[in-house]
Amino acid sequence: MSDRLLIFDTTLRDGEQAPGIALSPDDKVAIAHQLARLRVDIIEAGFAASSPGDFEAVSRIAREVKGPKIATLARTHPDDIDRAAEAIQDAAQKRIHVFISTSAIHMQSMLRMTEDEVMKAIVESVKRAKGYVDDVEFSPQDATRTNPDFVIATCQAAVKAGATTINIPDTVGYAMPADFVDLMARVYKEVRGGNEDVVISTHCHNDLGMAVANSLSAIHAGARQIEGAINGIGERAGNTSTEEIIMAVKTREDYFGVEIGADTTEIVETSRLVSRLTGYPIQYNKAVVGRNAFAHESGIHQHGVLRDRLTYEIMDPESVGHASKIVLGKHSGRAAFADALDKMNIKLEDEDFKRAFERFKELADRKGEIGEEGLRAIVDSESGLVTGEIQLLGIHLSGGDHETPLAQVRVMHRGEEKEFEASGDGMVNAAFVAIQDAFAIAATLLDYRVSPITSGADAMAEVNVIIQIDSETYNGRGVSTDVVEGSARAFVAALNKAAGNAPVVGK
Ligand code: KIV
Ligand code: ZN
Repeated sequence: MSDRLLIFDTTLRDGEQAPGIALSPDDKVAIAHQLARLRVDIIEAGFAASSPGDFEAVSRIAREVKGPKIATLARTHPDDIDRAAEAIQDAAQKRIHVFISTSAIHMQSMLRMTEDEVMKAIVESVKRAKGYVDDVEFSPQDATRTNPDFVIATCQAAVKAGATTINIPDTVGYAMPADFVDLMARVYKEVRGGNEDVVISTHCHNDLGMAVANSLSAIHAGARQIEGAINGIGERAGNTSTEEIIMAVKTREDYFGVEIGADTTEIVETSRLVSRLTGYPIQYNKAVVGRNAFAHESGIHQHGVLRDRLTYEIMDPESVGHASKIVLGKHSGRAAFADALDKMNIKLEDEDFKRAFERFKELADRKGEIGEEGLRAIVDSESGLVTGEIQLLGIHLSGGDHETPLAQVRVMHRGEEKEFEASGDGMVNAAFVAIQDAFAIAATLLDYRVSPITSGADAMAEVNVIIQIDSETYNGRGVSTDVVEGSARAFVAALNKAAGNAPVVGK
């Protein structure tokens, strides 16, 4: 049994299936680069056949991201396999991940297929995938609610057809660690046996809060790949948290006895990036990456930690990248700003750098000191905007309480300054209506979230919006010390993305 545990990260595929997440191809490429810095072994970059956007993101990641193997998901349909192969063709190391449901309820109600038909689809699709790539993974979806004999039969057929990774998904988060070990041990013995070319993997969902526990328990049964998503995002209650697996295996190397290749110091950075780009906040007490994961409140604990950190800490915060000392203030100039971005591993094109620096100066003037999280939020909200479209120059609000809220927005559209005024059923709504007038376009607001980045009365907040225009969704971020202004900036960012896709003519 190899002692190496492979970390397969599916933030960009299963993670992105979480409700309300709409990552653009640029966002996905940025996350994939960060996953490469985290040194995960395999990145599941998307479900290539599911949409043109997913296909583009998978193809770009395959071309641009070096280091990890790039995988993409495919149903057993021939077209899915062909599309998957096309999307990952440029990757140095590539994998096609084929799946089909095997539980009675899924086969009868969703697939309307018999066991024999499912078996046939598995064999044909794995062979087809094998015609394109050496590395094929097979997953019997809803395995933990499938008759175990059928799980074994499908996995054996997949191995015979050429699959080299057999992944057992607890699709609906139904398993308990002890049962799961039993199933995994059977799969290890009866599917892998002595075949060292086959890796047994696990993919758990968190409906009963067991995803990480189930995944870790599978290591004892011989699993040597665990699938997870950063911050545990994913369908419903989410997936196994990649970062929790990495730190559990590192911290309890004595117990698990497996090695991983991850660079743990990139964990916090990865977690924050995923949180910012998806708009999904990180729970304060989230293991490893939560802001309170290393905070000691009670006097007894504080006393202990001051004497010796190990009294109440089993991990060093710096080992996961928590400790950061980057703070810039209103007197910090261009060089200090560039140096801070360099230390934070952020590279910007000239235009993005200029815009981010100007915004930093505006906010530093109001806020005083800005730490690493604030700097990242500023960079994220200012970079990658489509230039030449609309920029928000200012916003003026009036009314409120007993009067109708009014927003006046001043924008720059292709070099020309214009003003738009609108009323709404609140300040934020009035600002959104005025901005839609500026773009001459109607958008539906699907999601709106405000997260504080710094504390105190003059706290900086990051606003994330997801909008829909026709059937496409776009996200935008805005940072400000004022929530309405931050909201307006986020809305403009999202509309600029839409304008970049299909030119929108401003009035
Ligand atoms: O949860 C699941 O079953 C999946 C499969 C596609 C692996 O995500
Ligand atoms: Zn899943």
